[in-house]
Amino acid sequence: MINRTRRLRKTENIRRLVRENKISTDDLIYPLFIEEGTNIETEIVSMPGIKRFSLDRISTELDEVVALDIPAVLLFGIPSKKDEKGSETWNDNGIMQQAVRFIKKNYPSLYVITDVCFCEYTSHGHCGIIHDNDVDNDATLPNIAKQVISHAKAGVDMVAPSGMMDGMIATIREALDNTGFPNLPIMSYAVKYSSAFYGPFRDAADSAPTFGDRRTYQMDPANRDEGMREATFDDQEGADILMVKPALAYLDIIRDLKNNFDRPIACYNVSGEYAMIKAAAEKGWIDGDRVMMESLLSMKRAGADIIITYFAKDVAKLLLKK
Ligand code: PBG
Repeated sequence: MINRTRRLRKTENIRRLVRENKISTDDLIYPLFIEEGTNIETEIVSMPGIKRFSLDRISTELDEVVALDIPAVLLFGIPSKKDEKGSETWNDNGIMQQAVRFIKKNYPSLYVITDVCFCEYTSHGHCGIIHDNDVDNDATLPNIAKQVISHAKAGVDMVAPSGMMDGMIATIREALDNTGFPNLPIMSYAVKYSSAFYGPFRDAADSAPTFGDRRTYQMDPANRDEGMREATFDDQEGADILMVKPALAYLDIIRDLKNNFDRPIACYNVSGEYAMIKAAAEKGWIDGDRVMMESLLSMKRAGADIIITYFAKDVAKLLLKK
C-alpha cells in the first residue's frame, strides 16, 4: 500500500515530530473578577475554582498566576454601586482603575487587560445607555471613550471592549490617540454572539440584564457571514487583535477570521464552556484534564493565536507536570 497514514503515528516521538498544534501557557489569558470592598474571596458556585476577590485578598491568586508564567490577565470589575449610565466605569478611583494600579505596581511583569463594558456597572445590566427599552448605540460611545481614557490613565496595557456597539473601535482609537496613548492596543470582542454559554459569568460578574436580552447588540448564533462583516469593520477601525466569543461552538468563525485577517486572532473560552467540563468531570463522566486540553486544542486548530480561559492555571499546572 502506498499510503499508510498510520506510519507516522507509531510512537509518541514520531507523533511529537508531526504534531501540528500545541497548547502553551504563552497563548493564555486568565480572567479575574475583582470586587469593590474588603475581605472578599467568594467562590462562584457554577465555576468551580474561580473566585471573586477584593483587592486586599487577591495577592495569593496573582502570585500563583505569575509563578505559573501566565503572561496576561483580563480584569472584570464588580463595583459597589451601580447607576443607569454605569458612571463608575470612568471613575478614576473606581474598582477597575484601582485594580490596574495595584497589579501594575506589585506585579509589573504581568500584562494587564481590562474588559471595557457597562453591564456590571449599570442598574439595568445592559451594556450601555438605555433609550426606549434598548441600548442607544451612539449615546453609549462617548461613555466608552471616557471609560478607556480612565483605564489608560490607570496604566492598563491593553483594552478589550466587549459591548458590541457599532463604531466602538474607531471611538476608542481616536480617544486614546488624542489623550497621549497612541501605543495602547485594542483587543476587540469583534464577533460576539448572544449566547447562553455566558450564564455562569453573569452570576460571577453580577451582570445579568434586568429586562430583555442582548440580542439587539450581540450577534445571532445562526449567522456566519455576518461575523466577517463585524470583523471587517473592527479591522478597518484599527482593532489590533480580533476576538471570537464564545469559542467552542464557534470554531468555524475562528477559522474564518484566521483565513481572512492579518491580525492575531483571540477566542474566549467562556464561563459555560468551563462549567460544562468541570461539572461532568466532577461527576466522573469525563476525564476533565483531557477534555480541557482537547477543547483548547480545537481552538488552536481552528486558528486561535490567543485563548482567554478560566482553565489557564489548570493548563499551566498540567504542562509543568509533563
Ligand atoms: C460583557 C461580557 C460578558 C462576558 C465577558 N464580557 C457577558 C455578556 O455579554 O453577557 C462573558 C464571559 C463568560 O461567559 O465567560 N461585559
